[in-house]
Amino acid sequence: MQNFKIVAITGSLRQDSLNRQLAIEAGKALKGQADFELLDYSDVPLFNQDIEYPAPQAVKRIRALVKTAAGLWFFSPEYNHYFPGVLKNLIDWLSRPVSDTEPQVLDGKPAAISGISLGMSGAGLAQDHLVTLLSFLNMKVMNKPRLTIPNAMQQTDASGRLALSTGAPLLEKQAQDFLQFVKQNAQA
Ligand code: FNR
Repeated sequence: MQNFKIVAITGSLRQDSLNRQLAIEAGKALKGQADFELLDYSDVPLFNQDIEYPAPQAVKRIRALVKTAAGLWFFSPEYNHYFPGVLKNLIDWLSRPVSDTEPQVLDGKPAAISGISLGMSGAGLAQDHLVTLLSFLNMKVMNKPRLTIPNAMQQTDASGRLALSTGAPLLEKQAQDFLQFVKQNAQA
């Protein structure tokens, strides 16, 4: 298996999101070993069964990209000890069958989870909820290692940009472990 693609999904739509920056660092860690693409889903509407079929254009686009992915890597902040609603909305769309003959696109896909937060949990509480959801949707979740980076202000520079210190080797290790995990759990 070579040249497979990892698609990154962030739980924050914020332009300067630390989780988005973490995803970009992860892409660098995968360089030369896998193709890497950050999913842009800011145009996906709020889920509503009234508009489910035919799927909105933005939903068609994200499903097509997810289908090309050998693995999905989630990077999510924690909002009130949960993962943000925008991410739940995205996953609700992805959880639905594409058509009468085509199942949902997450089934059996390997997933990794990382997060950075201002607080002490490093988004770990949000991750627990995300694991429950992704497992329910029959994704293959890599539970070890998950990456939780707490106290984000200790790993940012004076302008508030991500500047990983202790988190850097952990991200590198997670990237290598996820590459192995994806290979071991590759879909037919
Ligand atoms: C937060 N934040 C936060 N942090 C944390 O560690 N635990 C939490 O439960 C929460 N809850 C929370 C709720 C809401 C609505 C917001 C907007 C923020 C702070 C959060 O960690 C911080 O804003 C991160 O920088 C958000 O991630 P991005 O956007 O930088 O990726």
